[in-house]
Amino acid sequence: MMNIRTAEFVVSNVDVARCPHDMHPEYAFIGRSNVGKSSLINMLTGKKGLAMTSSKPGKTLLINHFLINNDWYLVDLPGYGYAQRGKKQRDEIRSIIDTYLEKREALTNLFVLLDCRHEPQQIDLDFLRTQGENGIPLAIVFTKTDKISTNQLKENTAAYKARLLEDWEELPPIFFTSSERNSGRDVVLNYIEKINNSLLE
Ligand code: GTP
Ligand code: MG
Repeated sequence: MMNIRTAEFVVSNVDVARCPHDMHPEYAFIGRSNVGKSSLINMLTGKKGLAMTSSKPGKTLLINHFLINNDWYLVDLPGYGYAQRGKKQRDEIRSIIDTYLEKREALTNLFVLLDCRHEPQQIDLDFLRTQGENGIPLAIVFTKTDKISTNQLKENTAAYKARLLEDWEELPPIFFTSSERNSGRDVVLNYIEKINNSLLE
């Protein structure tokens, strides 16, 4: 069972060239603004204020590296698709994300977060499809599971899986989390640990 001994903020920037060069494996979190990326990082590390969160979308605007156990990174990315600040900023953020995904060799797994309350959204389906086509190793995380009933969650995720199977031959790993209730923590951390161990072999 993965134990988080240390979790520290290292660097924030917009430029993938200035991300850490030590080649520790890294696990990044992406999804629409407000889906709960920063909250999930705090939940996984058990450090409430580590990544900045907000009830208003558009909080995280940079690539943020957090070093875990002096050994691997969690990376908090800005959300995509948030229109409020205008097209120019939205395009800038999208270009930060796309450049990171295209160039970052240390990226080991991308967690794509989806709000479990919503029907499949085109922007998420397009994003998943693009990353799949580009061969980015990814997993899906349904967030905010505390906000709906177990039955509703089952219904929503079944519908989502059916929709994904129109694009995907095989579904990626799927996780369910609530940062509010600390649920899904062990499963996600064990998944990361397994990958970390496989890199050592
Ligand atoms: P941006 O940085 O703006 O892209 O957003 P983000 O994806 O990092 O979302 P953030 O973690 O800042 O959370 C957005 C809002 O959702 C905050 O008000 C959180 O408290 C809330 N939230 C996040 N995760 C959960 C969850 O699991 N359950 C509930 N009930 N609320 C959550
Ligand atoms: Mg954030």
